[in-house]
Amino acid sequence: MLDKDQIRNPAPNFNRLFSRRSSTIRLTLVTLFIGTIIWIMILKPLAESDTLTSDTAKIKKESTQPTWQIDLKKTIDERFSVYKKEQFEEVALKKNRMIPVTAVLLNWKRMEALQTAVNYISKYPFIKEILVWNNNNKTRIYSKDFKLNNSDVELNVFNSEENLHDLSKYTTCSMAKYDYCYFQDDDWLNLYMDSLYTNFLENPNLIHSNSMPVIYLESRRWMFANVDKNLHTGFTWLGCGSFVSRAKVQRFLGQLGSISLIKDRLKLADRYFTLWTNQYPYQLSNPLTPLDQKDGWGVDQWNMVYNNILDATQKLYTALAVKSNSEFFAREEEKPYYNDRIIRAPCLNDKCLFLTNIDPFPHPSRVYYANNITHVRDQESKFNKLDFPSKFFWNNYAYHYAVDSDEKTCWNSFKIPKIGDYFGLQFIEPRFPKKITVISSRDFDASFYIRVSSGGNRWRTCNITSSNNTDHKNRNTFEFDCSNTVKNKQLIRFIRIEASRDFLEPFEICSLILDELNV
Ligand SMILES: *[C@@H]1O[C@H](CO)[C@@H](O)[C@H](O)[C@H]1NC(C)=O
Ligand SMILES: *[C@@H]1O[C@H](CO)[C@@H](O)[C@H](O)[C@H]1NC(C)=O
Ligand SMILES: *[C@@H]1O[C@H](CO)[C@@H](O)[C@H](O)[C@H]1NC(C)=O
Ligand SMILES: *[C@@H]1O[C@H](CO)[C@@H](O)[C@H](O)[C@H]1NC(C)=O
Ligand SMILES: *[C@@H]1O[C@H](CO)[C@@H](O)[C@H](O)[C@H]1NC(C)=O
Repeated sequence: MLDKDQIRNPAPNFNRLFSRRSSTIRLTLVTLFIGTIIWIMILKPLAESDTLTSDTAKIKKESTQPTWQIDLKKTIDERFSVYKKEQFEEVALKKNRMIPVTAVLLNWKRMEALQTAVNYISKYPFIKEILVWNNNNKTRIYSKDFKLNNSDVELNVFNSEENLHDLSKYTTCSMAKYDYCYFQDDDWLNLYMDSLYTNFLENPNLIHSNSMPVIYLESRRWMFANVDKNLHTGFTWLGCGSFVSRAKVQRFLGQLGSISLIKDRLKLADRYFTLWTNQYPYQLSNPLTPLDQKDGWGVDQWNMVYNNILDATQKLYTALAVKSNSEFFAREEEKPYYNDRIIRAPCLNDKCLFLTNIDPFPHPSRVYYANNITHVRDQESKFNKLDFPSKFFWNNYAYHYAVDSDEKTCWNSFKIPKIGDYFGLQFIEPRFPKKITVISSRDFDASFYIRVSSGGNRWRTCNITSSNNTDHKNRNTFEFDCSNTVKNKQLIRFIRIEASRDFLEPFEICSLILDELNV
């Protein structure tokens, strides 16, 4: 409980910033100013609640998804980035399209899990800075507690006098040295760092997050659209690994300054941030790896999630409805638009991403948000009237099952593919493929084109030199030649297998074997 007589320095450790970099001092001052106002006006009288530790801890309980049996230590040790340290040195960054990132992690009680997470992400060379914000004033932590193997990453730890909950994610990111932040809680581990980063590189403006399939489905219901009001937003959890731009975070702090949230809501800032960007987040669907998850969520917190999502949406709608010069909220929808986002799930081995244009869920604009609902469940029930996969279906046939190196589990397209529909892969490391085997659960003929691309925009058709499924009717091997279509042995980063006719039943794809890449 907060001792009201005790007036503390409202901005612990912020003075630290001034020694860090002079170029950002002005920015910092603005943030500091907003931050301090929030701090003094709203946070000080907070009654602390220790039970609210993390967004995602409840997922494990709720989910019917079997937790993958993974030897965590071994998995972590075996993971390494295909990105190279040299690509992120200053000279190289001027020439390549790489983006250095600051990771932001919060500590509350799970120090060991936090150490695991920090050490793990420090192996990825695009993480150039790690900021740890300790919300627990009973413990003090220091950089040396993390025993980082990788000395190229700059680690800074801030010890807070008070528990600022979610809000510290944003205040800490606003102090980042780099333009983009990576968020990660200490209760889940993102084993798809390269994949998520690769997709982020394509569209760094958008929020990129990782969700378990069942949560991914849920998030589809939590999208709010109204064309007349320029409303096009969605909710995503950020704690399972997400990339966000610092500019969006700073704008969010400005929004918090302009719309004073009541104190209880401010510490749940996570419920507001993604919705207030007024963009659909770019979510990948994949199984997640739990770390320590001692403190779960109760029903009350769940109700609070619903409350805050509705509150955030109503406030956004109201702000957009007012035509004014002070634009705290973005009106323009950022590209790529929802239907153009074909990247769906990381490959289990983190060497590629599964892509398809077939989206089994309805476009968010199919549910019209008129700002007259009283509960998020009202929104959900409108969505539920539309045609989309059930939880059971999605738990068994979500995207990642096509790329989990297991021929017994399959992605099912749910919709019946038409000519021009496709599925395929984006490679983390470019290559020059010549042969692919598509393994389905059913017999199928070779009514496909093979198309490749290096940038993801222009696709070229390769010459299929042989295709057979004589050995097994559910396995089709294509040998192809893209040399005429791709200039000077330009490397290929995308491949898609495109229907050359209308199909009669959904695709059910279980595995893809591509030269030496076996997913
Ligand atoms: C820690 O925070 C609590 C509640 O905010 C406060 O009552 C307590 O005095 C603080 N302890 C220290 C050591 O700062
Ligand atoms: C640091 O590297 C050593 C040797 O490679 C390894 O045994 C150890 O587990 C690493 N420590 C961490 C925290 O990753
Ligand atoms: C909400 O607004 C929509 C569109 O204006 C309308 O069709 C609907 O009946 C309203 N619902 C309620 C509960 O008022
Ligand atoms: C079918 O393709 C596979 C892989 O290219 C090859 O090993 C096999 O011999 C082919 N079978 C026939 C009957 O052509
Ligand atoms: C495809 O193969 C045909 C026949 O072998 C050949 O004439 C044509 O030039 C090839 N096209 C490409 C794009 O490789």
